[in-house]
Amino acid sequence: MSAHHAGGAFAERFGPWALVAGASDGTGEAFAQEVAARGLDVVLLARRTEVLDELARSIRSDHGVRTAVITADLTDPEIGVVVERGLDGREVGLLVLNAGAVHGASHFLDRSLDDVLQLVDLNCRAPVTLVHLLGDPMRRRGHGGVIIMSSMAMAAGSAFNATYCATKSFEVILAEALWSELQPLGVDVMSVIAGATDTPSMQASVDRWSDRDGVMDPTELVVGALDHLGVGPSFVPGADNRAAAQFLWPGSRVQRSQLLSEATASMYGFDHVQAEGRDYFENPPPV
Ligand SMILES: NC(=O)c1ccc[n+]([C@@H]2O[C@H](COP(=O)([O-])OP(=O)(O)OC[C@H]3O[C@@H](n4cnc5c(N)ncnc54)[C@H](OP(=O)(O)O)[C@@H]3O)[C@@H](O)[C@H]2O)c1
Repeated sequence: MSAHHAGGAFAERFGPWALVAGASDGTGEAFAQEVAARGLDVVLLARRTEVLDELARSIRSDHGVRTAVITADLTDPEIGVVVERGLDGREVGLLVLNAGAVHGASHFLDRSLDDVLQLVDLNCRAPVTLVHLLGDPMRRRGHGGVIIMSSMAMAAGSAFNATYCATKSFEVILAEALWSELQPLGVDVMSVIAGATDTPSMQASVDRWSDRDGVMDPTELVVGALDHLGVGPSFVPGADNRAAAQFLWPGSRVQRSQLLSEATASMYGFDHVQAEGRDYFENPPPV
């Protein structure tokens, strides 16, 4: 199992470029700043070019790394082509899939089908497309990392949030499966199961969001997540969130993933090297 990757070791393992999808504010901006502080060049992707350009300028001057901007909508059916073109051959060693937008709650049937399917595109289609595009070169190089931002909402289907919960669950299961396949080949995949976090999106969705108890600071979340990459298939930021997650989602995820992977390998006749890692509730992570 790979251990923590600090300083130069982090850049060697996850460089030269990080692509942060949904980078213009909140946890995405914090990921972009923090990976640059750890020595990675950063590609910033979101829909607002001016905000990205400004962030790119400040990252270059604060951290002395290279930056690039891709203006794109992750729900674009051509997102794979758009990203490949925007990357222009840059070697991505770390993919952060941040955008995931809950943006309010309502009865499933009161949402337009377009609205619902947009969330499926954002949280299912885009991650699958981008991991498929960028995971293969990581596998060939024998190193790299993928972080998928999920949510505590993945733990069960909640009324008023059906599609959000379902797509956030999809992300965790996708990350677990890819962790199991890719860790033996040197690529670390991890979902971040976030609780309430102080981001502009949530400030816009819920009154006085920042004043609520237990709302986490995005930078604290991001530092914990990056320190945890390579430790296990999922990370829950914050001790209170971890306690809540263990209540909502008991049992060993590592063991379940290992057992299911073993069974699938034997059923279909694959050689399988078991991924090894810690569960999110074991051995307190660094943050
Ligand atoms: N905040 C919380 O309390 C909380 C709790 C649990 C989980 N999470 C998870 O954490 C992640 C980040 O959440 P967040 O609160 O920061 O809000 P968010 O709305 O998911 O993310 C905001 C970022 O994503 C970009 N973005 C949104 N839709 C996009 C699209 N269609 N195409 C390209 N970029 C897009 C936004 O930039 P542009 O507007 O410029 O495109 C911005 O940079 C999400 O996956 C969310 O599910 C958050």
